[in-house]
Amino acid sequence: MSAAFEFTPENQQRFEQIISQYPRKRAAMLPTLHLAQEQNGHISPEVEAYVADLLEVPVVDVHEVLTFYTLFSDKPRGRHHVRVCGSLSCWIRGSDDVSKALREKLGIEDGDITEDGRISWETVPDCLGACEMAPMIQVDGHFEGNLTEEKIEKIVDELKD
Ligand code: FES
Repeated sequence: MSAAFEFTPENQQRFEQIISQYPRKRAAMLPTLHLAQEQNGHISPEVEAYVADLLEVPVVDVHEVLTFYTLFSDKPRGRHHVRVCGSLSCWIRGSDDVSKALREKLGIEDGDITEDGRISWETVPDCLGACEMAPMIQVDGHFEGNLTEEKIEKIVDELKD
C-alpha cells in the first residue's frame, strides 16, 4: 500500500459504511473514488494505488474507471471547480466567450487554480448533457446555463465569497 495517501479516520469510517452496502468491494469503486477525490482534491497515481488496494482490484481497473468518468480529475483542482462545456451546441452559442470571461475574472488560464486554491476551471470537449442551456458550465455538482457575462460575473463572485 502507498504511504502517500490514506483516508482520514473520518473518511475511513465513511468508506466502511460505503463498502457495507455492496455485495463485493469492487462494486463500491465509484463512491470510493468520489470520497478519495473529495479528500485529496484529485485522483493522483498514489490515490489510484490506494483505492485499488482497498478494493482488492488491479490498479489498471481503477485507472479505466477514471478515464471513463469525466467527473474525476487526475490534476489538482480548486475547492470549487468550473467545467466549461466546449462541445458543439455550447461552442456555437459562445463557449469561447465564457472561457474568456472566466480567464479575465479569475486571472488564471484554462486548467489552472487561483493562488488561494479556491477556484479552478477547465474547458471540457464532451457535451455535458444540458445543450438546451447552452452555453453552460458545471460548477461543482450543478449546472448553470444561458450564460451572459453578467451571469458569469455573479457566479464567480459567489465562488470567491
Ligand atoms: Fe454543451 Fe451539450 S454541447 S451541454
